[in-house]
Amino acid sequence: MIYLDHGATAFPRAPGVAGAMVRFLDEASGNPGRGGHRLAVAASRAIEAAREEVAALLGGDPERTLFGPGATFWLNTVLASTLGEGSRVVTSALEHNAIMRPLRWLEENRGIEVVVVEAADPNGVPTSAEVAARVAEAPTALVVLTHASNISGAVLPVARAARAVAPVPVLVDAAQTAGNRPIAFADLGAAALVCSGHKGLLGPPGIGVLLLAPDFEIEPLLRGGTGSRSESEEMPDFLPDRLEAGTVNGAGAAGLGAACAWLGERTVEAVAEHEHGLVGLLAAGLSTIAGVQLHGWAESAPHTGILGFTVDGVDSGELASWLDREREICLRAGLHCAPAAHRRLGTFPNGTLRAGIGPFNTDADVDTLIRAIAEVRADGMR
Ligand SMILES: Cc1ncc(COP(=O)(O)O)c(C=O)c1O
Repeated sequence: MIYLDHGATAFPRAPGVAGAMVRFLDEASGNPGRGGHRLAVAASRAIEAAREEVAALLGGDPERTLFGPGATFWLNTVLASTLGEGSRVVTSALEHNAIMRPLRWLEENRGIEVVVVEAADPNGVPTSAEVAARVAEAPTALVVLTHASNISGAVLPVARAARAVAPVPVLVDAAQTAGNRPIAFADLGAAALVCSGHKGLLGPPGIGVLLLAPDFEIEPLLRGGTGSRSESEEMPDFLPDRLEAGTVNGAGAAGLGAACAWLGERTVEAVAEHEHGLVGLLAAGLSTIAGVQLHGWAESAPHTGILGFTVDGVDSGELASWLDREREICLRAGLHCAPAAHRRLGTFPNGTLRAGIGPFNTDADVDTLIRAIAEVRADGMR
């Protein structure tokens, strides 16, 4: 089986992830922060060790590195906290629905103004100057940018944008870049960065990460028990407890910590170079086949290991099923939760086939996909 769906989630996970999760469940499965017995202490220690690993990999402060159920949860939390009644937010046309759906809800229910930057770039990637120009038009509470498109893999200039719009806070959605491209949060200039544990970080599903800059405070989306200040009916005023209501997913954190430790050893730079090389080979190979269209691809522009393409006259969904059934190649077809990005790239409503390269893919995997697509062009899906 050839797995090329790393834009959706990682397979396989990093070595050591499953073992760390099983160890947590078997040996450290008390409730972290609740009680002083050995299992509760072991759970707290495992989670704090994982927090250190994640913070080290992403260049964040462990004390401002928060665990929650996923990227979607943290994006909703930051947006709901930052965008009060009537406030203004500037964003790109390449955002995932994990951002656009909460923004549209806030538009409807809190009367916020959502400004989408119309980029001159044909692939919809805004320049920092284009973002800053929209911010300069009116008082703006927040800029929200994906670090890379989940449709095309194009990387956005988030650090330059953060410098250009300062002091307006910038929220970076790094769901497609954490683990795939080096990130030094402290140098990025962003107020907050969010990522999933189960994509480029190669950890398990059910855990996501929020990094907060030292001067950026938010309100929790959920309030509840933390094990600390149990005498009070108010949330504690210190992190991580203030933002981590309820029992943290300790097994998920332990797995994610192991994944980040593995990535730290292999290095994200090496992973990025590997994926960059393979996606370049894939783009080069597919573009030699007549009738294959690449979408949002620009060889010279920064990109992740994602490539969107279509084959003239062939339904992408049927082709993805054929690739799975006949060639054991797993990739995703259709619309990938970012309708505005598809519109911008001219692939709405049919969508694209999306190949997502990961750290364990090889030249042979890419070659097999290119040959399969060439065969379909020559002989149809037989
Ligand atoms: C760019 C982007 N943002 C956010 C998300 C949401 O991530 P999760 O489903 O892990 O919460 C995704 C997932 O596909 C994504 O690609």
